[in-house]
Amino acid sequence: MPSIAIIGAQWGDEGKGKITDFLSATADYVVRFQGGDNAGHTIHSKGQKYALHLLPSGALRDATINILGNGMVINPEALVEEIDMLQSLGKHPHIVISNRAHVIMPYHKLRDQKAEDTQNIGTTLKGIGPAYQDKAARVGLRMGTFVDEALFKAYLDQYYDTVKGHLNESKERLFETYQPYIEALKPRVKDTSVILAEAFKTNKRVVFEGAQGTMLDIEQGSYPYVTSSSPTAAGIPAGAGVAPKHVGQVLGIVKAYNSRVGEGPFVSEMEEEKAEIIREIAHEFGTTTGRPRRIGYLDLVALKHAHRINHFDAFAITLFDVLSAFDTLKLVTGYQLDGSVIDYVPAELETLEKCQPVFQEMPGFKEDISHLTDWNALPQAARNYLKAIEDITGVPVGMVSVGPDRRQTISMTKIF
Ligand code: IMP
Repeated sequence: MPSIAIIGAQWGDEGKGKITDFLSATADYVVRFQGGDNAGHTIHSKGQKYALHLLPSGALRDATINILGNGMVINPEALVEEIDMLQSLGKHPHIVISNRAHVIMPYHKLRDQKAEDTQNIGTTLKGIGPAYQDKAARVGLRMGTFVDEALFKAYLDQYYDTVKGHLNESKERLFETYQPYIEALKPRVKDTSVILAEAFKTNKRVVFEGAQGTMLDIEQGSYPYVTSSSPTAAGIPAGAGVAPKHVGQVLGIVKAYNSRVGEGPFVSEMEEEKAEIIREIAHEFGTTTGRPRRIGYLDLVALKHAHRINHFDAFAITLFDVLSAFDTLKLVTGYQLDGSVIDYVPAELETLEKCQPVFQEMPGFKEDISHLTDWNALPQAARNYLKAIEDITGVPVGMVSVGPDRRQTISMTKIF
């Protein structure tokens, strides 16, 4: 089956953008199926650095069709800016937007801010949660409605008072402000489910690109410190409008250590002085918000949880070169809870907060591996670390990334 899903196996920021970009070299379609511009993908290509938030990572390749699926929430202003940015750099991204995707409006951002005042989730303040709220409450604005002026007006007449929250702007003014975005996006809004059905019928190669990560999943993540969508493989059929059987291989993207932004329990969190070293080497600051990320040891308990939900065919380990800074390496293999060791992630925050990490410690590889392109050339200590991940989670490591550039990638098997 010519499709692959790229799924964050941790708390987001695993380096999915680079892997999607690497695999999309041979893809006909790259499809996002959830989230919005809360995501931030940095792609390095030919010495240039591109920060994408809404656009699928295939946007840098002119031959790839990039789909923003119905499960997404889209800020039109941010999307137009991103397309314009790529066009100004001489790129011609082929973008198609689902007519069923929901639209983020200024009042969603305001409501996000208001909710944060009391909830303190640490959201990206992009209006993601409130847009999904409106969707679930059946009062949301969809792209197909937005780009049709008569329908958009009728929507505002019917729902504006219900959804606007504290926004101090008339619906007429809002309508005016959005005219340029309607113009810019209208030709790209289509029924993407139909397009993808045709793609599968004609054996096209499709990459499903997850944003965020499994532990931020609204169903299976560390609720309530989660995003408002499903970034897991289970989110693909619903959010892309494809049948479940079209989801082929599932690749779990795993950063060689853990990081998270936002609040919530973080069992494997590292000592601050070590975290600081990683933050400096790997620039662990949010692409979307600029916030310093919290850093932890690689948590295999959380990875097993992610594997149970996603059934990964392989892992791609990213930022592996960063670990060469340390004399010893530690993996979290269990959680100590009330005198016994558990190997699952408790659902209740109160229980999770009581968990202490159980470590497996091993020698580090204190050498530069960022130029290596062959698995066999990796130092023994580096291979031992990867082998421990495979043995404990039961998932083979299919790829290792040793630097930000496309060429700094070691492939063990042909993945796609
Ligand atoms: P929201 O998605 O803006 O509602 O934020 C909810 C939680 O998800 C917060 O903890 C955010 O920091 C986190 N989050 C959202 N998007 C990302 C991402 O792309 N990477 C990492 N964390 C994210």
